[in-house]
Amino acid sequence: SRTFRIAPSILSADFARLGEEVRNVEAAGADLIHFDVMDNHYVPNLTIGPMVCQAIRPHVQIPIDVHLMVKPVDRIIPDFAKAGANYISFHPEATEHLDRSLQLIRDNGCKAGLAFNPGTSLHYLEHVMDKLDLILLMSVNPGFGGQSFIPHTLKKIAEVRKLIDASGRDILLQVDGGVKTDNIAEIAQAGADTFVAGSAIFGKPDYAGIIAGMRRELAS
Ligand code: DX5
Ligand code: ZN
Repeated sequence: SRTFRIAPSILSADFARLGEEVRNVEAAGADLIHFDVMDNHYVPNLTIGPMVCQAIRPHVQIPIDVHLMVKPVDRIIPDFAKAGANYISFHPEATEHLDRSLQLIRDNGCKAGLAFNPGTSLHYLEHVMDKLDLILLMSVNPGFGGQSFIPHTLKKIAEVRKLIDASGRDILLQVDGGVKTDNIAEIAQAGADTFVAGSAIFGKPDYAGIIAGMRRELAS
């Protein structure tokens, strides 16, 4: 059976109390800290960069999973590695040289991920499976937390699950956008093992209760 991972997205955290927020979500049972980087160019919003990654790093033991929604990507990858990122993912449309960018992440000592928007073709995976540690499927269009899960993504999750199993490699299948306690079981059923959840967790009174509820759904 699959190991499931919950990755709270700090996009929905209280940015004025970020250290406390990441400590609380780790204590509540999070497996990864999902760190959304937006540049007001590749996506229509502007968030946080390597300095903030470095600032939260000493507050948690769990891996920091950096989701780059920026273009270009190569220049910023070494900065995130130095800031303590463990995973770094980017979108294939945001680089001219997909293989080079993935290799750059590995050369900087991090695990590499490729992120797909709801409308982005999976053909980008064809020649780079060997360089991947994570595949991130967006189930909303990137830029904002709190959007609704796009149901068509379920079919894409199942397709990627087949590709990962056929590769025989240990690649996480992460789903990002609109993940809630009431749809997480169905998303897992489609083949996901790693679940990003922002608005479902942050801003709610009981992080541990929500994460435990998600794990109960995954076990059922
Ligand atoms: C969206 C981000 C997501 C977002 C998820 O562009 O990549 O990680 O924070 O937020 P929710 O869980 O609220 O959809
Ligand atoms: Zn994200």
